Amino acid sequence: EPVRLVDYRVPAFLIDTVHLDIGLDRTQTRIVATLAIRRNPASEERGPLKLDGDSLLFVEAWLDGVPLQTRDCIALPQSFTLHHVPEGSFTLTIETRLDPSANTQLMGLYRSNSAYCTQCEAEGFRRITYFLDRPDVLSVYTTRIEASFQEAPALLANGNKIEDGVLNHGRHFAVWHDPFPKPSYLFAMVAGDLAVVRDSFVTASGRHVRLEIYVEHGKESRCTYAMDALKRSMRWDEQVFGREYDLDIFMIVAVSDFNMGAMENKGLNVFNDKYVLALPETATDLDYANIEAIIAHEYFHNWTGNRITCRDWFQLCLKEGLTVFRDQEFSSDQRSRPVKRINDVKTLRSQQFSEDGGPLAHPVRPEIYNEINNFYTATVYEKGAEVVRMLKTLIGDEAFGKGMDLYFERHDGEAVTIEDFIACFADASGRDLSQFMLWYRQSGTPEIRAEGVWDESGGTYALTLSQILPATPGQPQKQPMLFPIRLGLVGVKGDLPIRLDGEHFDGLVALTEPQQSFLFSDVGEKPVPSLLRGFSAPVKLAVDLDEEALLTLLRADSDPFNRWQAAQSYALKLLLRLVKDSATPIDPRFVEAISGILARGGDDPAFAALSLALPSEADIAREIGSDVDPQAIYGARTKLRSTLGSHLGAELLRTIEMMSIDGPYSPQARDAGRRSLRNVALELACANGSKAALAVAQAQFDNANNMTDEMAALNTLALSGTAAGEQALQGFRERYGSDPLVVDKWMSVQAMLPHETTLARVKDLMRDSAFSLHNPNRVRALIGAFSANNQTQFNRPNGEGYSFIADIILSIDPKNPQLAARLLVAFKMWRSLEAGRRALAAATLRDIAARPGLSRDVADIVQRSLA
Ligand code: ARG
Ligand code: ZN
Repeated sequence: EPVRLVDYRVPAFLIDTVHLDIGLDRTQTRIVATLAIRRNPASEERGPLKLDGDSLLFVEAWLDGVPLQTRDCIALPQSFTLHHVPEGSFTLTIETRLDPSANTQLMGLYRSNSAYCTQCEAEGFRRITYFLDRPDVLSVYTTRIEASFQEAPALLANGNKIEDGVLNHGRHFAVWHDPFPKPSYLFAMVAGDLAVVRDSFVTASGRHVRLEIYVEHGKESRCTYAMDALKRSMRWDEQVFGREYDLDIFMIVAVSDFNMGAMENKGLNVFNDKYVLALPETATDLDYANIEAIIAHEYFHNWTGNRITCRDWFQLCLKEGLTVFRDQEFSSDQRSRPVKRINDVKTLRSQQFSEDGGPLAHPVRPEIYNEINNFYTATVYEKGAEVVRMLKTLIGDEAFGKGMDLYFERHDGEAVTIEDFIACFADASGRDLSQFMLWYRQSGTPEIRAEGVWDESGGTYALTLSQILPATPGQPQKQPMLFPIRLGLVGVKGDLPIRLDGEHFDGLVALTEPQQSFLFSDVGEKPVPSLLRGFSAPVKLAVDLDEEALLTLLRADSDPFNRWQAAQSYALKLLLRLVKDSATPIDPRFVEAISGILARGGDDPAFAALSLALPSEADIAREIGSDVDPQAIYGARTKLRSTLGSHLGAELLRTIEMMSIDGPYSPQARDAGRRSLRNVALELACANGSKAALAVAQAQFDNANNMTDEMAALNTLALSGTAAGEQALQGFRERYGSDPLVVDKWMSVQAMLPHETTLARVKDLMRDSAFSLHNPNRVRALIGAFSANNQTQFNRPNGEGYSFIADIILSIDPKNPQLAARLLVAFKMWRSLEAGRRALAAATLRDIAARPGLSRDVADIVQRSLA
């Protein structure tokens, strides 16, 4: 039965305190939970108490210390019901048993590499003990953990440690107390034989905070960057949002078996080790940037998520969209703002627009779900962040800041809704934000069409904007939305100082009607409109700009995002023509523009690298929209790359040379930018098979002092399909065979090769001793890279790619449904494929749908995909 937002009721009971007693054992862990419960005065319900469970093994229960008889309660694996509820508060104690070693779902209490750890969001706490496992039940937790000292010298839980000690039989214990009331999804416990890296932080108001990162022994040196990122995050949140840390200790644990990126449990963040561990020799610049962003993200959740949490899971974007917005702002301040913005928009378009345009489309705040784990999506996270960003653009920085302060002040300690959040900004700005709320309710990517007419004699420019809101699943009709559109008019020498309605124009208009016109004056020369500057709204922009206009923007636009966009749009125009007709000649003006970008590359290498990178195959597919032939797209892109390689060979080699870096590796944005330009140039230079360029790649592969350059060279060599490529792959494996996170990269490179032989190669790699279907990182590195990032080979015309992935999904599903459901999302674009592939993809999906015993996770995705 689906869960619906309209059915929300306040909880019938409250749980004020929780005492958890956890006796750890590999297969027979004993949990005794003591809950102080009372009826919720805000609830009308008078019935029995029903607690959630999931696969629990009940042992015994006590009411106010007195053992409960079988007639008093019903204990099932999925629920616990107490028939007669005492008046006032009472204490319910429940003992259960669980087997952490058998927990392959990685939800609840499980083992990762011999450590015990937990993951409770969204509904994993009910796999540990019976509870009101919903985010609006906030309790103060005390956790006592007992374990063998030898097996688990480190015993960690939320809050501050208040006691520890030694017991008989080689066992020991620790007691942790978290004074902040929190929902059960923020509970965490970790125990194991782990190494710890320590540091400290003094908050703005003088609180001394101990910082600890726990990792496998021997990995201590790989935590330096994560620790540094943590301290920078803590300072930044004080300076920019006025938010201080609130406990005496903040801990991060890196585990190697984790379904997602990381988890913000109060005071005890648990991370996928991929987002903690980094050394120059093992991690790329992208890894470093991800670590910085995710460390920040989880830390920022302490205020946006933990101190103020969600009333129900429909409000997930309340914490996720806002926290992504905050981590994006943090990274922008630490690095280059325009480069960060461009990268975020690239992610948004590739992950979210494709979701919004297919059968899995849903609003930023969904109103119905079958399985909440399937809603940790790009729409909730990335589009959710865009909505917060638009709010800031619309009401201005000052009102936005006031609104945030008001939110923290008004709702600290509460579980709230999107309406509560938006009300703070309405109050702070004095604006009516009811139309803005549609961003949370209406799914699909809006399209903005723009048309402009310049009147030379009057010096005016009339810009007409209209909004088109496409139908999406369950939403055939839509109401007009509110769009902040940043814009300018650009002349040959740059921005024109224009007026709107006679006033100085500040660069922002709000589109609220289906169609609206804006009349700009003081427009003395023929302008090119620069629309949606900084990507001020998450929309598709349809504006007819010819090549000359795009070149003007590329040269003269003051907005870096739109300069980048102009290069992309130009390339996309060319590529679309090439897809239709592979004999289309390549526009020499484009080659010249690329040459210009290369020539000025030294000014801002990271930006130049982004401008040189051609739209991806998936970008082109999205632009085409229907009857997509992935092979034709690949062909077009390959032709353009090799043409650029041939025409610009010498310039590319010069750029590669110029962008080399002497001295030790630094993960800082400045050096990372130089490496990214060098490596984009390297890839283009090798695109036509140039011997000279491939020799440069080989030298880089042999001599690199960091993983970024080494991986880039490996990828380029492997793409070349030469014997040298195979040799490099082999050499790399021999060098890094014992390092799982590095071997993952090696797997991904091969899984993404656009070669006929790739599927066979992937099947071979599954037999590699480093591969395991049980570990999510391994599966994503090989299988996920193939299904999500290899357009031609996943979409092989005979359907082999689809049936291969389907088989893997079906074999993973019984063990780890979340992981299986994630893989299935690779089919999200199936309807836009050409008829042959579409039929094969549909058949594969129908085959999965027909299997008995599917998990709720997989059943939900497959049914929605086919609907
Ligand atoms: N709250 C986590 C984060 O975004 C994500 C955890 C999601 N886990 C899950 N099983 N759905 O930081
Ligand atoms: Zn999050």
